[in-house]
Amino acid sequence: MSTKPFSIAIDGPAGAGKSTVAKAVAAELDAMYLDTGAMYRAFGLYMLRRGAVGDRQAVIDALDDVDIAVEFIDGAQHIFLGGEDVTAAIREPGVSMAASDVSAVPEVRARMVALQQKIAEGHSVIMDGRDIGTKVLPNATLKIYLTASAEERARRRCLELEQKGMPEPYEKVLREMQERDYQDTHRAASPLRPAADAVTVDTTGKTLEQSVATIKRLALEAIGKF
Ligand code: DC
Repeated sequence: MSTKPFSIAIDGPAGAGKSTVAKAVAAELDAMYLDTGAMYRAFGLYMLRRGAVGDRQAVIDALDDVDIAVEFIDGAQHIFLGGEDVTAAIREPGVSMAASDVSAVPEVRARMVALQQKIAEGHSVIMDGRDIGTKVLPNATLKIYLTASAEERARRRCLELEQKGMPEPYEKVLREMQERDYQDTHRAASPLRPAADAVTVDTTGKTLEQSVATIKRLALEAIGKF
């Protein structure tokens, strides 16, 4: 296997299992895993706290004073907002949509993409998000578009919420997921879409182990070739 740093881009809609699969494959291949959605979530949380998520100019102005940092503590990604560890807070209800809202602003994307590219520099990395293959890592060793039916993604999200002790009705989870997917695929700036050279992997009806095995096989093939 090549010892050159490699990069794997995993894009796809909400709840497709990107982070779970990326984390598992990164551990097996000894690569850094970067969850880019966490950065948009941290900025969304910042704007929520200011009560100004929908105010485009306020969002752009906030880029001058927001302080978002990523640290890896015992191998796990933590995200800091002005020095406060918001790793748990960014998963709270309402933050997903706020993240999607602020992520549509091109100035926000430019800032986040630069930060993501800087973190990845010189490392073997697996990144997940919406624009990794199209924008952040255009020369990635492997690009995956990970997807699953909306119904299956909503079922998985419901199970996850139940396990966290925060159950939500299936219909609500499905509706919110569809709204967010619509917004993420229809924005003008770097909309979610498969890169021209991405391999699409549909995980509908697959177990996590099967999905991890598929991505690991594709990754080893791509790394072996480059
Ligand atoms: O991956 P996630 O659900 O944590 O991401 C939250 C939102 O952030 C998502 O709805 C769209 C946005 N996002 C993005 O625009 N680009 C990325 N690379 C990652 C996330």
